[in-house]
Amino acid sequence: MGYKITVIPGDGIGKEITDSAVEVLKKVDEKFNLGLSFDFCEAGGTAYDKYGTPLPQETLDSAKNSDGILFGAVGGPKWDNVDPALRPEKAILGLRKQLGLYANLRPAKVEDSLTEYSPLKENRVKGVDLLIVRELVGGIYFGEKCESEPYNGTERAWDLENYSVPEVERITRLAFETARLRRHKVTSVDKANVLATSRLWRRTVLKVAEEYPDVELNHLYVDNCAMQLAVNPTQFDVIVTSNIFGDILSDEAAVITGSIGMLPSASIGEQTSLYEPIHGSAPDIAGKGIANPIGTILSGAMLLRYSLHEEKAADAIEAAVAKALADGYRTPDLWREGFTKAGTKEMTDVICERV
Ligand code: NAD
Ligand code: IPM
Ligand code: MN
Repeated sequence: MGYKITVIPGDGIGKEITDSAVEVLKKVDEKFNLGLSFDFCEAGGTAYDKYGTPLPQETLDSAKNSDGILFGAVGGPKWDNVDPALRPEKAILGLRKQLGLYANLRPAKVEDSLTEYSPLKENRVKGVDLLIVRELVGGIYFGEKCESEPYNGTERAWDLENYSVPEVERITRLAFETARLRRHKVTSVDKANVLATSRLWRRTVLKVAEEYPDVELNHLYVDNCAMQLAVNPTQFDVIVTSNIFGDILSDEAAVITGSIGMLPSASIGEQTSLYEPIHGSAPDIAGKGIANPIGTILSGAMLLRYSLHEEKAADAIEAAVAKALADGYRTPDLWREGFTKAGTKEMTDVICERV
């Protein structure tokens, strides 16, 4: 009975924010008797320093046998010059690939009470509620690559992008299924005016769309999509796109909600799934106790909802976060005159009290 959660704090602010999320999960566990147990595992630069690998086998085994994985963040300037095959980022890329986490769901929603925090004008951002569905185990991230080779008397490097029809079908179906639970609209984002992979992407999306006549579909080139997110973000419901375009667009979508520290994500696989905030290890603020833990806490809520099907417990976390914000608590990334400044620990405590 009960559920095993593998917790991978990683580097930088990773430990601070996963500690917060685990504290909140323990609090809902007390209330709802979920029977959660936590297995803390190492990965990233700190694991590389200790074991010579960013993704120790033990961590991978624990993740494979878990009911859900909570991940912090990996990376930092300390490891910028290590062998590219052993960089901290290889830990998260390895987990995604080896666990088959093919779909990354990155919601960006702006509550009416938080519109003033957006770098966009309030009238543009009011009502934003979109979901980026990012393909996560293919494309240029995982194609063949060459770090360096001689070329015409100089040097070059290359990364290959490839996508197969089944890879695109799988992510497109998930996007359409998700749109059916939302506002029935899918925007597929590509660069079909230039890239062969994007033309295959678009053909495949069009074919899959025939199975979903009740869902509206449109296509945007990625450069235009980047602009549309800034000028008219409420037009979007579900955005489906490739690995690299999804990486870039999701940081943009995140920050229009006010702070990148707020947004959770779910990386869905067949056996188990991984939940992490969309931001990185924030080396500039690591160890200062000021990181916003909300993205990670809400990732914990997504874990409860999608992997454990503990809907009520997930709702309780989301409501507690909303209440803490409504009561005026803000970490420094969101703080303004008139609000109560809270560090990572205080923010976690006020959320726990409200669970
Ligand atoms: P970043 O997301 O770590 O930081 C960008 C900016 O946002 C920084 O100013 C940071 O202080 C701020 N920020 C991020 N999270 C915050 C939070 N919770 N609260 C308050 N402010 C926050 O991106 P970066 O600086 O480009 O990358 C740093 C390292 O993280 C790199 O090594 C990168 O590869 C890695 N990274 C890892 C992941 C991951 O593990 N999934 C994701 C993105 C980046
Ligand atoms: C993300 C990150 C990762 C990515 C890095 C750390 C490999 O930026 O999760 O968005 O590019 O996917
Ligand atoms: Mn990213």
